[in-house]
Amino acid sequence: MCGIVGYVGRDRGQGSSVLDSVAPAVDQESADGQHGALDVVMEGLRRLEYRGYDSAGVAVITADGIESRKKAGKLTNLVEELAADPLPRSLTGIGHTRWATHGGPTDQNAHPHLADGGKLALIHNGIIENYAELKAELTGEGLTFLSDTDTEVAAGLVGYLYRGLVESGAQGDLLTLALQQACQRLHGAFTLLAIHQDQPGTVVAGRRNSPLVVGLGDGENFLGSDVSGFIDFTRRAVELGQDQIVTITPDDVTITDFFGAPAEGTEFHVSWDAAAAEKGGFESFMEKEIHDQPDAVGQTLLGRSDVSGRLVLDELRIDESILRSVDKIVVLACGTSAYAGQVAKYAIEHWCRIPTEVELSHEFRYRDPIVNEKTLVVAISQSGETMDTLMAVRYAREQGAKVVAICNTNGSTIPRESDAVLYTHAGPEIAVASTKAFLAQITAAYLLGLYLAQLRGNKFRDEIADVLADLAEIPAKIQAILDDAEKIKQLGADMANAKSVLFLGRHVGFPVAMEGALKLKELAYIHAEGFAAGELKHGPIALIEEGQPVVVVMPSPRARDSLHAKVVSNVQEIRARGAVTIVIAEEGDTSVAAYSEHVFYVPASPTLLAPLLTTVPLQIFALALASAKGYDVDQPRNLAKSVTVE
Ligand code: G6P
Repeated sequence: MCGIVGYVGRDRGQGSSVLDSVAPAVDQESADGQHGALDVVMEGLRRLEYRGYDSAGVAVITADGIESRKKAGKLTNLVEELAADPLPRSLTGIGHTRWATHGGPTDQNAHPHLADGGKLALIHNGIIENYAELKAELTGEGLTFLSDTDTEVAAGLVGYLYRGLVESGAQGDLLTLALQQACQRLHGAFTLLAIHQDQPGTVVAGRRNSPLVVGLGDGENFLGSDVSGFIDFTRRAVELGQDQIVTITPDDVTITDFFGAPAEGTEFHVSWDAAAAEKGGFESFMEKEIHDQPDAVGQTLLGRSDVSGRLVLDELRIDESILRSVDKIVVLACGTSAYAGQVAKYAIEHWCRIPTEVELSHEFRYRDPIVNEKTLVVAISQSGETMDTLMAVRYAREQGAKVVAICNTNGSTIPRESDAVLYTHAGPEIAVASTKAFLAQITAAYLLGLYLAQLRGNKFRDEIADVLADLAEIPAKIQAILDDAEKIKQLGADMANAKSVLFLGRHVGFPVAMEGALKLKELAYIHAEGFAAGELKHGPIALIEEGQPVVVVMPSPRARDSLHAKVVSNVQEIRARGAVTIVIAEEGDTSVAAYSEHVFYVPASPTLLAPLLTTVPLQIFALALASAKGYDVDQPRNLAKSVTVE
């Protein structure tokens, strides 16, 4: 949460024609290839806005000192503000989009915050836990604060330390020194970026438990909460470690720890291209990302078996003997990723015969869980930055468990702090409500399950090859659902006035039902709940009244243990009590039509793979319903995509 961008560029001499623009979408380069700081920062904010949209702000260093503009609300408000009150040309700037923690979403609380008599500007992502204590201390030193934020206290502290250094006659890069000293005093999670008017051409950043990556350019360098902050300008990036300070100038990137000792980052190449993070003709990122799903699953499967059909997971660098001795798997995740874990549990236990628990990361570490060297933890996170999951990963490793991350974001923290990582290749996911990452996570978790089954001899090679062949057919089947989505879209739009929608599923259909309900809550702000169909009679059936819409994820009639017949009975039970049923069924399952007001068919697949298909109509339904209500489906209220606070 909170998006952060920083930029410094070299003045290439003929740059006098370069003017910073006031809107994010105008030319980012002058004829001589020179970027303006404001353009770069605004473009980065546009791409990072999914991290928070309570307010946005920028600060640049100009010939007259620091100039800042900030505005509550979405980035467009800041764009309007800049149009009304333009900023002069600059080659050094920082920008921020906020997801409010301390202090409401007002202009005053928006970042940047100024200090040192307006000479220093600072932005922040995270929470500074000891801010009240520091505020009291700094107030005692005569500082005054205008906002309710912890960030302004951090700015005040850096400014105060900077002034102290100046007054003591210290020489050199005082901003870096001041930020190092400040970070030593801060508790909590933070990424801080600061500029000072006496040091044009320098942006300094510090991070602890909060994301930050460096982008390397030619005569210019970048900082971003993630690579989308600078993806339009460079594909060369550097990941940083914990508790590091990075100072960027147009020609240098210097990394130290909080005490000034030299440190190093790891350079990596960003494979995402900028176009992948555009809407590509769709009305929303979410719609585009739903349509990216055949590719997301296909790419995640790509290159993961050798010519003989043997599954090869090169990235899984954990000693095979350790993987063979695993006696329990714990999947840790939050939100949609946790539902991906719940789907995967059915497959992993079935294929590997290893007991598998799925736990919400934030519940896990506070309940004294039984985790040891024989536990394999699978941490699923699209962003790789979810603080709850990161903390759970750290705790599990302290207990001796090995951790495999399933992650969609290169250079993020969770994979770096895990023993191994299996990347999903869904491409950048911008819409806050997760769609393609979910299917890619299930796919990756299935690959992990099959790999363990192969390694431990639970499955014969041809059995694994059969599942892989079935998985290979999934992208085309998803495409078929997308190509025939008009009816479900229409139903979503027709139901715009629904007050509540219930979702039922059984076996792997149960987490799918919960994910369907979550999508509706996130996007349409209506009551929605997913139940295990078998649990209905134990309580939730009391919710059914005349006209109550219920979406049912029907198991395949070919599935084992007559689950289909049992769910059909459940449908009859709720219809008898007035429910309007919307059934997602397998093609060829003609029996359900008699019991449903609406039926939507998905292509046939083995039971364990069905979630990769049955989820898709539920996503389309939620998108259509929320769009019909006129809501912003990419940026639902109160949410953020990457939740970097606990
Ligand atoms: C937030 C997002 C959800 C997401 C969850 C976990 O709550 O709004 O869409 O599922 O975080 O995120 P992660 O990046 O760890 O998968």
